[in-house]
Amino acid sequence: MTQKRILSGMQPTNNLHVGNYLGALKNWVKLQDDKTAECLYCVVDLHAITANYDPTNLAQNTREITAGYIAAGVDPARSTIFLQSAVPQHPYLMWLLATMTQMGKLNRMTQFKDKAGKDKEKAGLGLYSYPVLMAADILLYHATHVPVGDDQVQHIELARDIVATFNHRYNGEHLTSPEAVLMPDGARIMSLRDGTNKMSKSAQSDMTRINLTDDADLIAKKFKKAKTDTLGGIPDTIKSLEDRPEVKNLLTIYAALNDQKIEEIVTQYAGTEMSAFKTALTDMAVAKLAPMTSEVRRLLDNPSDIDAVLHKGADKARSIAAPTLDKVMDVMGFLK
Ligand code: AQP
Repeated sequence: MTQKRILSGMQPTNNLHVGNYLGALKNWVKLQDDKTAECLYCVVDLHAITANYDPTNLAQNTREITAGYIAAGVDPARSTIFLQSAVPQHPYLMWLLATMTQMGKLNRMTQFKDKAGKDKEKAGLGLYSYPVLMAADILLYHATHVPVGDDQVQHIELARDIVATFNHRYNGEHLTSPEAVLMPDGARIMSLRDGTNKMSKSAQSDMTRINLTDDADLIAKKFKKAKTDTLGGIPDTIKSLEDRPEVKNLLTIYAALNDQKIEEIVTQYAGTEMSAFKTALTDMAVAKLAPMTSEVRRLLDNPSDIDAVLHKGADKARSIAAPTLDKVMDVMGFLK
């Protein structure tokens, strides 16, 4: 019997990068081995339109993210892979939950503040209410565990708050309170051009990230041009990396991709010139990523296969989401 239901998602804002893989996808793949868990992995396209986006790219980005999930090892036979917009219960439940979400709480969401930037008066309602849609994504499936990066923990707390409000107001255990599952340490990957900013799909420059579709030449070029510092090669202690965020990031990528600890990489490469380390990193990364890259390309050459996975996943997702929404509407008193 499954006791856990795991739900997570990524936005089709662009191609997946090595940060998405090491920080999230690799973990999703492992979670499939938990026999007590049922996994649902969503492509959250309704979230992706909360920032400026190009409608001519949305469908292709959606297929690319789906291909990335599958190529990384998310198995459609074991996990439900589906598209958020194919399950209309998501925005529907969001509206119902929005009526019981205090603006004071939304005002405290740091992701909104970060993404809205200086002129938050001009930010869209979609961006502001993003955490309520995220709560609906989770609560529709009675998800018990939600793998997230640390920047999303606040949103899970809000979802838990909404559950408490709903269950209290409608007097019963109608919705399930989710738990955030944090990714293991060291999996936070930073931009190749600024070690203090995370690697991001939507960062303007493609040189800031290694995409899961990059070929060997492009990976080599990006690592070669990756920013480092003038403090020499690889140091012999982790402590010396404290004020060297870019070098630390390259070591982190090496360790995470090669399933090693950063300490081991520091010991192995202590004293190595940066250019030689970058060459070793490139060789290892190309070897590790090549099977995934070619699988993404193979899948993208057969878009109808990707669509079939999403359609099948949406049928399964709707079969869980529809009864939850019915129940919510029932307890809220709507006429049937
Ligand atoms: N740099 C990163 N290091 C480790 N993990 C990361 N994730 C994202 N960037 C890194 C994890 O990948 C998942 C993607 O979630 P998302 O699509 O909702 O968007 P995000 O977290 O905002 O990621 P991006 O890549 O930066 O996308 P954009 O630019 O569209 O905002 C999450 O699990 C996240 O923790």
